[in-house]
Amino acid sequence: MMEEKEISQAVIGRLPRYLRYLGELKDEGMERVSSQELSERMKVTASQIRQDLNNFGGFGQQGYGYNVEYLYREISRILGLDRTHRFIIIGAGNLGQALGGYLNFERRGFLFSGIFDKNPELTGKEVRGIRVQPMEEMEQFIRDNDVDIAVLAIPKNSAVEVAEHLVQNGIKAIWNFAHVDLNVPEGIQVENVHLSDSLMKLSYNINRYLQENRESAEL
Ligand code: NAI
Repeated sequence: MMEEKEISQAVIGRLPRYLRYLGELKDEGMERVSSQELSERMKVTASQIRQDLNNFGGFGQQGYGYNVEYLYREISRILGLDRTHRFIIIGAGNLGQALGGYLNFERRGFLFSGIFDKNPELTGKEVRGIRVQPMEEMEQFIRDNDVDIAVLAIPKNSAVEVAEHLVQNGIKAIWNFAHVDLNVPEGIQVENVHLSDSLMKLSYNINRYLQENRESAEL
């Protein structure tokens, strides 16, 4: 297997989208695809696709295109999806319960294995067959269940402290939905998700569209 060079985060950020499209091609029974065809589907340039996939030594062959199955498997492997990750959710409110209830993470190898909340009224409530546990149980649970990812679905005022606690107990990666920057030691991976960032981008694009149309109407 080829050694991978350091891949930019921008490219990594695009890989899940490649994977989704390749998954569709696979489901349609397509065995190979040219960068041109992929480009038309994905609405990105063929040269961008070639450049992105060249990061991995390129899976394509001149005149043949890409082998869909192979590319799908390789991108999955690069994204670490060829193994399972167990995750726990901290915060069993609206967001925590919605994330726990979402079935499709499993398809990618992310196993929802526990959910914790400090509110005793939530203890025992079931989220997709898994009971909410009090925070005091968390430490032991992480130790016993080989958990590697924690999802933070709690308000920002306690997120930093809870993240520290998680790391002390062996969590290696945090999927952070709390609106605060976490201060974690080197080697701990954090991925921040702020849905409102995406909404703001949408809002910007609405404005831009309106503005452009107004301008062209005035011409
Ligand atoms: P919620 O109020 O329904 O749930 C929060 C839960 O966290 C409650 O059950 C509460 O008891 C628990 N909690 C609070 N402090 C805790 C602690 N120290 N340890 C354990 N559990 C604790 O709120 P919701 O709607 O579920 O949102 C959760 C947080 O996620 C909010 O702070 C919100 O701002 C944020 N959020 C972020 C989004 C994003 O895109 N990043 C989207 C939606 C919410």
